[in-house]
Amino acid sequence: MGKTVELLEAKGIVKTFPGVKALSGVDFSVSAGEVHALMGENGAGKSTLVKIITGVYRKDAGEIIFNGKSISPGSTLEAEQCGISTVYQEVNLVPELSVAENICLGRQPKKLGFISWGGVRKRAVEALKRLELDIDVSKNLSYYSIAIQQLIAIARALDIDSKLLILDEPTSSLDEKEVAELFKMLKKLRGQGLGIVFITHFLDQVYQISDRITILRDGGKVGTFEAARLPRLEMVGRMIGKDPEQVKSMEKKREIRKVAGKEFLKAEGIGRKGMLFPMALEIREGEIIGLAGLLGSGRSETARMLFGVDPSDSGKLSIGGADTDISSPKKAVKNGIAMTAEDRKVTGIISDLTIRENIVLALQARAGAFRTYTLKEQYALADKFIKALGIKTPDADQLIKNLSGGNQQKALLARWLAMEPRLFMLDEPTRGIDVGAKAEIEKVMDELCEKGMALLFISSEMEEVSRNCDRVMVLRDRRKIGEISGEDISLQAIMKMIAE
Ligand SMILES: Nc1ncnc2c1ncn2[C@@H]1O[C@H](COP(=O)(O)OP(=O)(O)OP(=O)(O)O)[C@@H](O)[C@H]1O
Ligand SMILES: [Mg+2]
Repeated sequence: MGKTVELLEAKGIVKTFPGVKALSGVDFSVSAGEVHALMGENGAGKSTLVKIITGVYRKDAGEIIFNGKSISPGSTLEAEQCGISTVYQEVNLVPELSVAENICLGRQPKKLGFISWGGVRKRAVEALKRLELDIDVSKNLSYYSIAIQQLIAIARALDIDSKLLILDEPTSSLDEKEVAELFKMLKKLRGQGLGIVFITHFLDQVYQISDRITILRDGGKVGTFEAARLPRLEMVGRMIGKDPEQVKSMEKKREIRKVAGKEFLKAEGIGRKGMLFPMALEIREGEIIGLAGLLGSGRSETARMLFGVDPSDSGKLSIGGADTDISSPKKAVKNGIAMTAEDRKVTGIISDLTIRENIVLALQARAGAFRTYTLKEQYALADKFIKALGIKTPDADQLIKNLSGGNQQKALLARWLAMEPRLFMLDEPTRGIDVGAKAEIEKVMDELCEKGMALLFISSEMEEVSRNCDRVMVLRDRRKIGEISGEDISLQAIMKMIAE
């Protein structure tokens, strides 16, 4: 790219929210006449960075140099006055106002000190014409679909005589034709010397339009790359925190288990509007199935759907050959399905109960009020699992909150295992626990499957998925895009499927 003068240079940007370090010293620069993609998994810090540059949030530390001057915008209006315009992830216009008013909001053309409505209308029509949109500007914004509203927001951003245009996931609600139209426009603007920051989860789009790519991960910067020199596979790898050498070194030979179990669950076209696209899936007894995909691809949503937390609203499903539906967690449990959710603090563990009480909880809930487990039964059960899972505790009467994270996780597993589920769904069961506990949990999983229980395993550690599963379902953008099974499973194969 030669020596270019950067239009925007953000240096060492730090932003902390209560309990989260959203940005930990990020450098980011954009030059005039380039489209710069900002990539990263959900929660990587992309929107936060954008919001700091555009004055929505105040940075805790760092510096922003724009057009040669240090700036510190305190509002979006101030940022606009500097020449930075933005379209946010959430359309943040005013639904009750007309399209014209929305486009000129805060910068209405005035005539003799009064707002000139004719001027507003004319300006709005022109702004929309640039995007080749033929829209009645006197109608309320809310009259139009989200996709059109998004385009109107873009027209508004383009209406400002800006030098930098930031688009945070502008295409998530646009169809193919609208995206093509937008890209045509962006290329034109790039030709005119505008700097453009583009955030998207669609990998295709990144390569269609961007010159450079900056990848963030967990609030830190992974690197800035020229798009033409960053293979897709490498990009996906870097988004999940692995450089190409690491990916290579992680490819171990796996043991292939023979799984010849009977069909347990079969589904066709199950999905949930606005959450998951319809998908087909099949789960066999004794099988370990992995759900892989980037954060936000729909992994947890799939498990939640199968557990009836956010039930499917389409397609059909059968368990053990009989048609059924899983409309609530209660129904899931009745059908022999158990699940541990991603955040054990929120959904699982009850800190002020003992290990024994925590383990017996689900069993007791299923049995109802008429069958109480005697203390003797409870201790027998708890002791059995403490031993089987190697939970490190002096006895079953310890408060669960005093156990280490990994041991809490095992106790939670025990709670569900006590119910002898036929399908056990584990969402991030090994997050935040050390290597030793991880290995033990993996061992327990294997043993259970030998006995015929099916496991659905979700982890953002893709190598964990590739190492442990007999079959992997791969998700992208809330859609199941394929399956890989047996010997074909590898970290690379999963990443490739996501990247293509
Ligand atoms: N206003 C806020 N208050 C508290 N925490 C926040 C706030 N905004 C963002 N965060 C946290 O900061 C981190 C970064 O969030 P951010 O929205 O920047 O991610 P992102 O990369 O844009 O993700 P996505 O792809 O999901 O849009 C996340 O952990 C998020 O929960
Ligand atoms: Mg975001």
